[in-house]
Amino acid sequence: LDRRLGILAIDGPAGAGKSTVTRQAAHALGLQYLDTGAMYRAATWWCLQHHIDLTDEVAVVEAVAQCRIRLDSRDPNQPSQVWLNDQDITAAIRSLEVTQRVSQVAALPGVRRLMVQQQRQMGAQGGVAAEGRDIGTHVFPEAGVKIFLTASSQERAKRRWQELQEQGQQEITYEDLLQQIIERDTADQQRACAPFRKAADAIEVCTDNLSIADVIDKIVHLYRSRYPQA
Ligand code: DC
Repeated sequence: LDRRLGILAIDGPAGAGKSTVTRQAAHALGLQYLDTGAMYRAATWWCLQHHIDLTDEVAVVEAVAQCRIRLDSRDPNQPSQVWLNDQDITAAIRSLEVTQRVSQVAALPGVRRLMVQQQRQMGAQGGVAAEGRDIGTHVFPEAGVKIFLTASSQERAKRRWQELQEQGQQEITYEDLLQQIIERDTADQQRACAPFRKAADAIEVCTDNLSIADVIDKIVHLYRSRYPQA
């Protein structure tokens, strides 16, 4: 009997609630939380910091190859702490500039190769809950449980708007956010390399009318029915 815990793969678009859900489910199940979006953000931050021309793939890949990314996810109520070459960039990777540029960097095959390599190392022992866009299709196609977490773009824009209001950031309108979400979805779905799509064996969970707690329960239950020892 294989007693090792398997991989929980959670893919979905921005704003579907992936981060909170994956983090909390990981905590409940005793899995290591792996936020792959944070890694693409870290790589993007590094390139912007070094004024790399993002249309120059060779230069970008060369820069990203110098990134040593470390994620610390001990606190289930906080986003992962992100360290790049020993600098704490946890807050910096959530800036508007990084958010607007990350799709461009994440579209480059050389960048994805470097990130996926690191992600597979992090998951090599199993026992990982990974969230992203290509986890179930590409990074861990052998994952024991795959979830495709969705929400309508209107619902996602609304949630993001409320989040920003709570942080006291009132400059951006709901319409702008909706537009940003649609643009980023399109870019992530249309890129040639590992485009964002649902794995054939993933279970789709639409969160529009579910509470966060309901979504977490559902996923924890699905995982335990596959790995009862969790
Ligand atoms: O989930 P997020 O918003 O932090 O992701 C940031 C960007 O990185 C998003 O535009 C999609 C991209 N991404 C990706 O291409 N592949 C992943 N596995 C995770 C994120």
